[in-house]
Amino acid sequence: MKKRTLRIALIMATLSVAVLRAEDGSRLWLRYDRIDNPLLLAGCQKSVTGWIIEGDSPVLRAAAGELEIGLSGLLGRAMPEARSARRHGSVVAGTPAAAGVIASMGLAKELAGLGEEGYLIISTRFKRKNITAIAANSDRGVLYGVFHFLRLLQTGQEITGLAIKSAPEIRIRILNHWDNLDRTVERGYAGRSLWAWEDLPGRLHPRYTEYARANASIGINGTVLTNVNANAQVLTESYLRKVAALADLFRPWGIRVYLTARFSAPVEAGGLSTADPLDPAVIAWWRDKADEIYRLIPDFGGFLVKANSEGQPGPQNYGRSHADGANLLADALAPHGGIVMWRAFVYDNNVPDDRAKQAWNEFVPLDGRFRENVLIQVKNGPIDFQPREPFHPLFGAMPGTAMMPEFQITQEYLGASVHLVYLAPLYEECLRSDTHASGPGSTVARVIDGTLHAHSLTAMAGVANIGDVCNWTGHPFGQANWYAFGRLAWDPDLGSAAIAEEWIRMTFTGDAPAVATIGKMMMASREIAVDYMTPLGLHHIMYYGHHYGPGPWVDSGRADWTSVYYHRADSLGVGFDRTPAGSDAVGQYFPPLRELYGRLENCPEELLLWFHHVPWDHPMKSGRLLWDELCFRYDAGVQSAARLREEWEGVKGSIDPERFTEVAGLLAKQERDARLWRDACSLYFQTFSGRPFPADLAPPQHDLEWYKAHTYDDIPGIK
Ligand code: GCU
Repeated sequence: MKKRTLRIALIMATLSVAVLRAEDGSRLWLRYDRIDNPLLLAGCQKSVTGWIIEGDSPVLRAAAGELEIGLSGLLGRAMPEARSARRHGSVVAGTPAAAGVIASMGLAKELAGLGEEGYLIISTRFKRKNITAIAANSDRGVLYGVFHFLRLLQTGQEITGLAIKSAPEIRIRILNHWDNLDRTVERGYAGRSLWAWEDLPGRLHPRYTEYARANASIGINGTVLTNVNANAQVLTESYLRKVAALADLFRPWGIRVYLTARFSAPVEAGGLSTADPLDPAVIAWWRDKADEIYRLIPDFGGFLVKANSEGQPGPQNYGRSHADGANLLADALAPHGGIVMWRAFVYDNNVPDDRAKQAWNEFVPLDGRFRENVLIQVKNGPIDFQPREPFHPLFGAMPGTAMMPEFQITQEYLGASVHLVYLAPLYEECLRSDTHASGPGSTVARVIDGTLHAHSLTAMAGVANIGDVCNWTGHPFGQANWYAFGRLAWDPDLGSAAIAEEWIRMTFTGDAPAVATIGKMMMASREIAVDYMTPLGLHHIMYYGHHYGPGPWVDSGRADWTSVYYHRADSLGVGFDRTPAGSDAVGQYFPPLRELYGRLENCPEELLLWFHHVPWDHPMKSGRLLWDELCFRYDAGVQSAARLREEWEGVKGSIDPERFTEVAGLLAKQERDARLWRDACSLYFQTFSGRPFPADLAPPQHDLEWYKAHTYDDIPGIK
């Protein structure tokens, strides 16, 4: 009893600290502040009077802890676990295995088909009392159900009359950290890597558990700890012990760890003279390595591999194929249940006629030759995480192979952690794209959820934007992209706007006008960035190296890393001809997309310059000529960026001053950058079009040379 009183006092103290402490963004969407609408609060306090978890395991203890802090915070009173469910308003969570209330409810039929991770949340009666039951087949399902229930409270939704049934559409929902062992993060804009390798395995930072909690709350169940540009050192025994320490911490939150495997590891870490995938010594080395890993980490997830791309070693170094390489690792992992995610982001050192075609050319002939525990991990578009790309033509093109998408959450080409760009509409656009692989309705979502080609191994990866800065992602709105990735990986059919609303309510405010304004800003933001960076299908014209600002003039170095390779501007027009008359990349899409994209008159304008070299005087749907339209789009991007800043001013009183001021500062910087993009790109392309700027647009502030000479001293990321 004494212990219990102490615990309650501790909870209350934590709550009051939470109320007093500055909003630094560190609590993400799990703030659990008291429901501020008095009517709603009273209703919830009546409907939820206590909670109980049936059974005991590390995962259930995590769920119990979450219910305790969540309900105590949201309902504004200490809510330790109750002794029984025999009162109105009890929340009972568990599996039928615990032989308690949940078991007595006879839910077998409802639970069938929900798998290992699905759950039910139902309002029901028990011993003549109204209760809420959170039921699942496994403890992990209970944990996810608990987070769902808390989300209902956090977002002000109805919590009576519930009949919720949810199960993930995708089996492996995984973050890819591009984190190096020296704690730098490739394309990371939120400080250093979370993984303090120097302190592991002995010293465990509290952030690890916070990280796992946040991921579990949105259904993420896997994490690749290391960069795809891999370092074999992570496979050495001392590092594996560090990895094991993280795996132990993440396990109660349903999260498995994975590592990137450097293909040449048998040479670098094993002292062999070759990494040839068909060499018996190499095969034995990977087998032994897998055995060693599983001795330390029994639920190790598997390997992510970048091979024969951008200088990374791979099977082609030995005249072998991607299938030979992937199968080597797959065979080593298979006895333990591990998987291989083999990346299709490949392009070799010989510059191809069109880099957009290379992955398809290399992988389609290998369809059906990969082991059952291999997935091919494909970036959403054929080039590289651009503000807009068509979906990757590999989706749907390898029916005999499990395919998973790789989205970027970190904003490498989208303003890093400085610009507010909500990425869910980009993810959604890709997932809803119809590949026509098996006729209409063959969306990317149906390819990757396994239903189109009957695959049971399914996955979705997001390149993380997380670092050790206080608010995790640098830009407070970067958190929304992490959140949205998790929600969409659970259910690819969710809508971006609904996800944004959830996130805003949990992260910022439940004030309806503010929710509406912020939601509108978020939903418009991706298209705004496209306008001021790469309108009408332009792509890869960013500044060399850091990819932050404009660099359409970049013309030296490896050809397919330059901007001129992609925009192909000349006196006649602009854009990459990917029709049959050009590189014929359109030929990699199924009909009728070939015709849709391939004919100038049919091609959607947002992808026009991706697929066509278009004359400057080409008439556009707006009635303007291409040159004028390009200038208008750039200008519209700037106007809209200014509007974002103004709209944010409108939510001033509804947001805590700390985060309000921080975002206001970032939006001002974004507007500055948008102008830079507009002016630099319009001036540059004018040197080809030879046409005047439309009279009603403000002229650029400086001349082209000024923009070319501009350097960036205030942007995040590795310098
Ligand atoms: C991009 C990015 C690299 C990264 C690569 C990859 O090219 O700029 O930093 O390594 O993608 O996805 O492998």
